Amino acid sequence: MEQKKIDEYIKMGRDMLHLKIDMEDYQSDQQLHKPQPPLSKPATSDRIIDLPRNFDDLHINGNLTDLLIKRKSNRVYTQKNISLLQLSYLLWGCQGVKGIRGKSYATLRTVPSGGARHPFETYMMVQYVDGLDQGMYHYLPLTHQIEYLGAVDDLFNTIDATLVNQTWAAKASLVFYFSCVPYRNEWRYGIASHGPILIDLGHVGENVYLCATALGLGTCGLGAYDGELANQLFKLDGWDEFIVYAQPVGTINIDNTADEDAFYSFVKEQGW
Ligand SMILES: Cc1cc2nc3c(=O)[nH]c(=O)nc-3n(C[C@H](O)[C@H](O)[C@H](O)COP(=O)(O)O)c2cc1C
Repeated sequence: MEQKKIDEYIKMGRDMLHLKIDMEDYQSDQQLHKPQPPLSKPATSDRIIDLPRNFDDLHINGNLTDLLIKRKSNRVYTQKNISLLQLSYLLWGCQGVKGIRGKSYATLRTVPSGGARHPFETYMMVQYVDGLDQGMYHYLPLTHQIEYLGAVDDLFNTIDATLVNQTWAAKASLVFYFSCVPYRNEWRYGIASHGPILIDLGHVGENVYLCATALGLGTCGLGAYDGELANQLFKLDGWDEFIVYAQPVGTINIDNTADEDAFYSFVKEQGW
């Protein structure tokens, strides 16, 4: 790539990170009184599954300080089932709705979001969850349900391909794929939306880390994924909605740090 092009991309990225945008003479669609987009995407399938909401039966490991100390990226999964209640907790913890502001102005969730826009949808590839068929699912946060979107041919290898052959991650009990619906933010913040969307996304990912840690499960944020393939599988158009983050969650052997350490053996080998 030409240096000039590289400089252009770097400038675009840096400008977005610190909202270096001239807002003079600009009005967002909210200021122009255009209709607000839906707070979340409605179900498209008729196979809806209610998620259990009583988390008292969960064994939660430790207090907040313990969780912060224990939180780490886990990359060795033991391919066992997790319970539907554990999945329910993970979904509630990263995108769950706790209330509505106004009649239907905004959702209030377990994560913060600039202007309470919450511009994400949560999709899943499920492999090992009690009571769930393997395949694709979509979370319905307003009713705390999931909808089954269908089976996937050769599920393991398909997941592996979406995660650009990070095969350790394809061994997860399920993989979350978070999509972004940018217009939810653009309606209110217009051309200044895109940096804050990424800040919001970090909160979602961190809550998956904390909830997984609380449940004794492993996870790892994944910035390396094949967005086009994931969009195609979940039937997203890649413009009004597209995958922005993936996060596997799997069962782990807490005592097995040897395999985990092996992942970063290159640091020592290459004398970093
Ligand atoms: C946005 C983001 C993207 C990441 N992408 C990957 C990835 O594609 N593959 C991977 O193995 N780890 C990935 N990680 C995990 C980081 O490598 C990890 O957080 C970092 O090495 C620090 O380790 P810790 O999470 O155990 O503290 C990602 C983490 C974040 C937050």
